Amino acid sequence: SQSLRIGVAGLGTVGASVVRMIARRREAMLASGLDLTVTAVCARDRSRDRGLDLSGVEWFEDPVAMARSSAVDCVVELMGGAEGAAKDTVEAALAAGKPVVTANKALLAKHGAALAAAAEKAGVALTYEAAVAGGIPVIKALREGLAGNKVERVYGILNGTCNYILSRMEREGLTFEACLKDAQALGYAEADPTFDVEGFDTAHKLAILTSLAFGTQVDAEGVSVEGISRVQPLDLRMADELGYRIKLLGVAQATAAGIEQRVHPTMVPKSSAIAQVMGVTNAVTIDADAVGELTLIGPGAGGEATASAVFGDIADVARRILRPTFGVAAATMAPPPRAEMQRHEGGY
Ligand code: NAP
Ligand code: HSE
Repeated sequence: SQSLRIGVAGLGTVGASVVRMIARRREAMLASGLDLTVTAVCARDRSRDRGLDLSGVEWFEDPVAMARSSAVDCVVELMGGAEGAAKDTVEAALAAGKPVVTANKALLAKHGAALAAAAEKAGVALTYEAAVAGGIPVIKALREGLAGNKVERVYGILNGTCNYILSRMEREGLTFEACLKDAQALGYAEADPTFDVEGFDTAHKLAILTSLAFGTQVDAEGVSVEGISRVQPLDLRMADELGYRIKLLGVAQATAAGIEQRVHPTMVPKSSAIAQVMGVTNAVTIDADAVGELTLIGPGAGGEATASAVFGDIADVARRILRPTFGVAAATMAPPPRAEMQRHEGGY
């Protein structure tokens, strides 16, 4: 059968898990007529042992060269960062008419509209299920399953590192620094964990969700952001005594003044469903006119959980290319805005 030749740029926590998953799922995918093969990879340090069998796989020093290589049909970008190698690689792949799968919310939050336009111009998919809420398939839920709904509000716990830190500080009385160190060791945190603890990662994810939920352009600059770095053990104890937990929430809702987007530590009643979400788990609640309120809960970070979302996108690309008659409709970044997003001015 025809093969989808995949190039993976970035072999860290997520990239290494994706390469392993493609090998592990090979037989099952072949049985459904989809032959997925990693033909090229790229990372900075070739000498590092990543526990991967890369025999027969071409190693590239330069991810842009990998994206342009004739040995690659689909580019999977797992390097991270809003600028530099990640942006150049995605742009090069799209310009070469190749579909792109990425987990890079920082890139999409900053350049999503331009990259979506490039993907549409090239007539290829730019998919990013893993960019929001790790293993929870919330992008597909919003874009496909809930397409018939008018969304009024979307909110939730969107950063695994922060929820892990807050949970362990509360339950085990550990320090913020010790919990962050563990989150980094477990592969949950961003390369620069400031993005996690200062709320920017949640803001990036929220901006992507907002664009899908409300049909607007991604506007990460319009998110009001406060992270968890100033939350003290005393705050958690006081909240506990009052019957609350502290969670870092991202909230986007339609208001008379426009779409309000905010990220901040929030006191939630211990009896509420969202207060039960502990550790690296994320939760996304969508309030919509037809379906009512819907909550998706699952692992928000980590190699395997994130690879699960990346793999789903790769399988979608493969279905479209290898079995066009059974393929799903082209699904790229949010379409051009139906209405310009009105920023909610002030109030927090
Ligand atoms: P990571 O462990 O830091 O891995 C990054 C990889 O990219 C490394 O293999 C690194 O090479 C490679 N790389 C970085 N810059 C490069 C360059 N200029 N040229 C070639 N290779 C380069 O990061 P990660 O945690 O896997 O995250 C990857 C992406 O997924 C990020 O966008 C992140 O936000 C997103 N994401 C992560 C998670 C998670 O749980 N970790 C979840 C959802 C989304 P070396 O190994 O040689 O240094
Ligand atoms: N650093 C991110 C988090 C990875 O902790 O949620 C998943 O996007």
